[in-house]
Amino acid sequence: MKLLGISGSLRRASFNTALLHAAQELLPADVTLTIHDLHDLPLFDQDVEDQGDPAPVTALKQAIDAADALLLATPEYNGGIPGVLKNAIDWASRKGSARSAVALAGKRVCIVGASPGATGTVRAQDQLRLVLRRAGAIVEPPGEVLVFQAHTKIIDGRLTDERTRELLDRHLQAFLALLPPL
Ligand SMILES: Cc1cc2nc3c(=O)[nH]c(=O)nc-3n(C[C@H](O)[C@H](O)[C@H](O)COP(=O)(O)O)c2cc1C
Repeated sequence: MKLLGISGSLRRASFNTALLHAAQELLPADVTLTIHDLHDLPLFDQDVEDQGDPAPVTALKQAIDAADALLLATPEYNGGIPGVLKNAIDWASRKGSARSAVALAGKRVCIVGASPGATGTVRAQDQLRLVLRRAGAIVEPPGEVLVFQAHTKIIDGRLTDERTRELLDRHLQAFLALLPPL
């Protein structure tokens, strides 16, 4: 089983990227989680798309195609999805000139999120769920991993809080259990 992890933060010490690293530690041995970096992804521009997908867009779409499912870790910016992640979803929601299918269509997606605030990205996650469904993705499992006060639970890039590790582990297990057999 191959999962693709995408963090909605470009920050070097991102709590959300740290959640993806924690997931790498928690997932069973037969499940790999590759983290796809969004630093090079250009802003969506339909004129650019009309000329053909730029290489980082092709790379993103191919990585999504090659994955059995996605794990998205989202920050919350101003009560919503950060532009970095929304931009990636916008690109991946399009066929592009050389494609016959939308990368996100029918793709199973698990969402997690971390924030130093008290609500742990609940608003961003709600929005993300709607946007992904609109793009044809299937968001599972029900329930949420909301890592609030993330600065007390993620230290030096590692998820140290045992209770949160358990919650993340359970969420990932529930996600894997709902995936169709390969
Ligand atoms: C522009 C901006 C808006 C933010 N808005 C929110 C918000 O609405 N809710 C929240 O919990 N945190 C908010 N934050 C704080 C982020 O949760 C915090 O910067 C977090 O560390 C970002 O995720 P990361 O650690 O993965 O980079 C905001 C931060 C920025 C830069």
